[in-house]
Amino acid sequence: AAVTPFSVRMPIPPVAQPMMSAGGLDLYTIPIKPANADILPGVRTPVLTFGGSFIGPTIRARTGRAAKVVFVNQLDMAANVHLHGGHVAAADDGHPMDVIDPGRMRAYNYPNSQQGATLWYHDHSHHMEAEHVYRGLHGMYVIDDPAERHLRLPEGDYDVPILLRNAQFDDAGALVFGSPFDRATILANGRPQPYFPVAARKYRFRLLSVASEYTFRLGLGGVEMKQIGSDGGLLPAPLPLTELVLGTAQRADIVIDFSRFAIGTQIVMTDATSGTPVLRFDVTSRASDNSRVPNTLRPLPPMPAATVERDVRLSFDFFSGAPVGLVNGLAYDPNRSDFTVKRGSTEIWNVSNGDSAFGIPHTFHMHLVQFRVLARNGGAPLPQDAGLKDTIELPPNSTARVQATFTDYLGRYAYHCHYLEHSTLGMMAQMEIVP
Ligand code: C2O
Ligand code: CU
Repeated sequence: AAVTPFSVRMPIPPVAQPMMSAGGLDLYTIPIKPANADILPGVRTPVLTFGGSFIGPTIRARTGRAAKVVFVNQLDMAANVHLHGGHVAAADDGHPMDVIDPGRMRAYNYPNSQQGATLWYHDHSHHMEAEHVYRGLHGMYVIDDPAERHLRLPEGDYDVPILLRNAQFDDAGALVFGSPFDRATILANGRPQPYFPVAARKYRFRLLSVASEYTFRLGLGGVEMKQIGSDGGLLPAPLPLTELVLGTAQRADIVIDFSRFAIGTQIVMTDATSGTPVLRFDVTSRASDNSRVPNTLRPLPPMPAATVERDVRLSFDFFSGAPVGLVNGLAYDPNRSDFTVKRGSTEIWNVSNGDSAFGIPHTFHMHLVQFRVLARNGGAPLPQDAGLKDTIELPPNSTARVQATFTDYLGRYAYHCHYLEHSTLGMMAQMEIVP
């Protein structure tokens, strides 16, 4: 059932409302529950949700103000929640084995001690993460930073989350959890190729790809977008782009200035990977605009000298039966930590794709920290490596040299391929942060 492009309006995910705000803390309760969602026009699609909507509620946090989010598992199976990109204690990290049983609830404490960033939350229960996220357990988590207010970037109604993903539907409109390569329908905020009315002014769009095993190559038909942020926060300076590469789990904050377009202009965002439109911006009104995109945004935090260097190799074992995902030759074992990392230290990890012979791409994600990409294949990083990163792509025949500083928290944290179909199969490992 092909959908006519631009026949539905792009919704903005609901914003979570705190049950209580007191003593420097916002308290939220969000059920994890099945629901029927309006995705394709005229059909109801059974999905799994945070809070009842296919794209979970956006949690709007603030640097320096803690949030406690109580997730109530109303599914008939275990689930859990990981704040992707969040700098949080190990007990609140949604460790793959630390799940919320059916009928139980769990409070996650998010200190929001990090700088402003576009994060997201998703299920991370081991062996179920790929299917759960695919079926809808995904939502955005924005940390607004008072220290960035003076920049006067577009805000309020002009600061819009856009979660991008792909999906496969059967003839009845149900989601098919099959091969990632059969997910031919691209969704923006949970609707297929929607339109979105805009005023002729600047907008900040927080783009997040929740599609597994997919790379968006987004363009506006030559119209310039300015990238202002990546996974972990603002870039030091805006990056003008006509094509934005957005891999699995990555975020890019972009500003598009519609002020030079006449009312009635339609600007289509297309994805060069699939060769299809993603959404259409319709310039429908005028609006005043005192927002700016300053030439300098926020300097990156200083990089202390690294004292430890490690190698991390992601691959599959195809020869012992069903494929098993490996990190440095070993499948995930929740009882094993492969790296002991001293708290406060800075390390360089050389991450490589061990499946080049098979042409299989991987990705690399670390919990707890934002890292910096120092080099790619021994040379300069890619444009999409700019800024603070927590997830990068590792195409066949590639290596990446990344650097991170492990502050504050002790305990066990995961790192893995963020193609969740791969981490499900074991392509995940753990480090132990020690005093
Ligand atoms: Cu977005 Cu360990 O995950
Ligand atoms: Cu992988």
